[in-house]
Amino acid sequence: MNDVFLRACRREKVEYTPVWMMRQAGRYMAEYRALREKHTLLELCKTPELATQVTLQPMRLGMDAAILFADILLPLEPMGAPFSFEKGEGPVVHEPVRTREQVEKLRVIDPEEGLGYVLAAIRMLKKELKVPLIGFAGAPFTLASYLIEGGKSAHYEKMKKIMYGETDTWNLLMQKFSEVVRKYLRAQVEAGADAVQLFDSWVGQLSPADYAEYVQPHVAYILKDLEKTGVPVPKWSTGTATLLELQRDAGGTVIGLDWRTPLANGWKRVGYDRGVQGNMDPTVLFAPVEVAKKHALRVLDAAENRPGHIFNLGHGILPGTPVDTVKAVVDTVHEASARR
Ligand code: CP3
Repeated sequence: MNDVFLRACRREKVEYTPVWMMRQAGRYMAEYRALREKHTLLELCKTPELATQVTLQPMRLGMDAAILFADILLPLEPMGAPFSFEKGEGPVVHEPVRTREQVEKLRVIDPEEGLGYVLAAIRMLKKELKVPLIGFAGAPFTLASYLIEGGKSAHYEKMKKIMYGETDTWNLLMQKFSEVVRKYLRAQVEAGADAVQLFDSWVGQLSPADYAEYVQPHVAYILKDLEKTGVPVPKWSTGTATLLELQRDAGGTVIGLDWRTPLANGWKRVGYDRGVQGNMDPTVLFAPVEVAKKHALRVLDAAENRPGHIFNLGHGILPGTPVDTVKAVVDTVHEASARR
């Protein structure tokens, strides 16, 4: 197996900088769109053969790790809050959870029972893959944002009303999510995932004081336990320029940086005893290929060849991104870093 990604996560010396990209399987690829004409997104996630096929699609672009094809919202359904993906709208939770009674009713599920299809896909993928497999889950804050708001949100006022005003209910919800996510990620490691990533996409909505009070203890509960498994535990979110030190203290062996924080500054603040990944603005991939390559080299320069650097984007690849530019960036990072 090509394990350069795992060695970089452990901050060992590597022959070249490994690359993977968030949302690397998806609509920018013609072969994904072709499958989506025949199946819904949830069908792809719930059929291990199809999830395996989609996970493998971006491997032809030369990525050094595969990320399991699934979605952070999948646990909501077995917990008792079904949702669907609506065209043009994104995820829609059918009955948003906004009362103490509803939170009490949410089930802390057994991953094998509620999400066995994800674990089956991991076992299937482990037989096919020649690079490490990254499993993942959403973090409590980001999951709560969809559960309470009912979908995407601009201001998160329904969620924050509970967080600030009914903090006991908030804490109960965070505890339930933390336990589900901890057990789910442990089950993914047992099924064969080589690393498990925690996605907290929207936590940059909070001030440092609010992050410390309402979120950090729950994230720490999950990450400190996962670190005991010995697999790398990357963590990633956006808009976190003011939260990096608190995020580091919450745990995680590789910290994600979006493009608003310069990599050199972000890594110094996180500390060189952690790896870092991310940082290139995903919209740069829409620029002429030479411009995209230049931006990729800037990220490499900022990492100064330190052990623990994994090349990635600051957020997921967007639909419409030219596949050739993605491939050119992967090749550029591999070639340029091998010469350093
Ligand atoms: O290669 C991969 O990364 C694929 C696996 C993956 C998906 N979702 C599949 C998916 C991963 C890692 C995710 C994570 C995810 N899902 C996050 C965290 C990362 C981030 O981007 O912030 C979040 C917030 C979600 C929730 C979600 N899923 C939203 C808001 C949407 C709709 C918006 C959108 O991007 O279209 C989804 C749908 C979704 N999940 C798609 C894919 C490939 C869209 C594709 C489709 O409709 O076919």
